Amino acid sequence: MTFKTIAIIGAGNMGESLIGGLCQNGYPADLIWASDTSAQKLQYLNETYRIHTVSDNTAAVSSADVVIFAVKPQIFKAVAMDIRDVIFKKRPLIISIAAGIRTAYIRRLLGDDIALVRAMPNMPACIGCGATAFYAIETVSVDERNLAESILRALGMVVALPDETALDAVTALSGSGPAYFFHMMASLENAAIALGLSSDVAHLLTIQTALGAARLALESNHSLDELRASVMSKGGTTEAAINVLEEEQISVIYKKAMLAARTRSQHLAEQLEE
Ligand SMILES: NC(=O)c1ccc[n+]([C@@H]2O[C@H](COP(=O)([O-])OP(=O)(O)OC[C@H]3O[C@@H](n4cnc5c(N)ncnc54)[C@H](OP(=O)(O)O)[C@@H]3O)[C@@H](O)[C@H]2O)c1
Repeated sequence: MTFKTIAIIGAGNMGESLIGGLCQNGYPADLIWASDTSAQKLQYLNETYRIHTVSDNTAAVSSADVVIFAVKPQIFKAVAMDIRDVIFKKRPLIISIAAGIRTAYIRRLLGDDIALVRAMPNMPACIGCGATAFYAIETVSVDERNLAESILRALGMVVALPDETALDAVTALSGSGPAYFFHMMASLENAAIALGLSSDVAHLLTIQTALGAARLALESNHSLDELRASVMSKGGTTEAAINVLEEEQISVIYKKAMLAARTRSQHLAEQLEE
């Protein structure tokens, strides 16, 4: 990986996850700058990771090759306007992880010819186990694209998307996805308690089962359907449970839920640009 100077604007949950992941992967701390409104947060980041910290966004980006927008979508415009002049002058690679802020809007704010990558990470990024999808606009060179990908890898696994509209589906899948799994795990846990298990045992077995299933799915060459079939024997307990889920049309419910999430993502993007 080529080491470039990175400025991270907004050192909250995602900003710190990026900083922590980069430092853990051996990225030189003295090439990382972070800016935030909280002096306390900046002091903590400086002491913990030995990175440069500043309260002034312009100062953070003034010597940066890569600028990462990790602020809330609602303040994206104000932050962009604040650092626009430096961006015009320095022309860094820009990576935005702000949910729902589309590249056309960012180009309207910062110039049509900027090199821009829009990414959608998810919450497990805070332990380096995120799933991030990104889209690079046509002005981004191959080297810049590789650089963006290697930086985003600090958050976990990364996939590239050929078109930006897929980011709404990504938001519905991996962006919101951790909540679906937490919801499902809580439902299983509560059902196990109702069957007589203690809450501690139900909690641990639920989480380890989810982790084991996810790891097996990741490491195995078999499809999800094949893996499921390998747990189900004819007339057995798993089949009895899966039959109930299918009778209740759980797949249709998930499809409806994800459609609702994607529609909401599209609407939120429109609202943010008004
Ligand atoms: N968290 C997730 O799971 C997740 C998933 C996908 C995408 N994202 C996206 O990632 C971005 C960051 O999310 P987050 O969860 O990390 O939010 P966050 O924890 O609120 O972090 C944002 C940080 O920016 C700071 N900030 C506010 N105004 C600023 C300014 N003018 N200049 C510089 N910094 C400023 C905030 O300080 P204050 O707290 O003092 O306001 C806060 O520390 C969002 O756009 C979100 O859509 C997050």
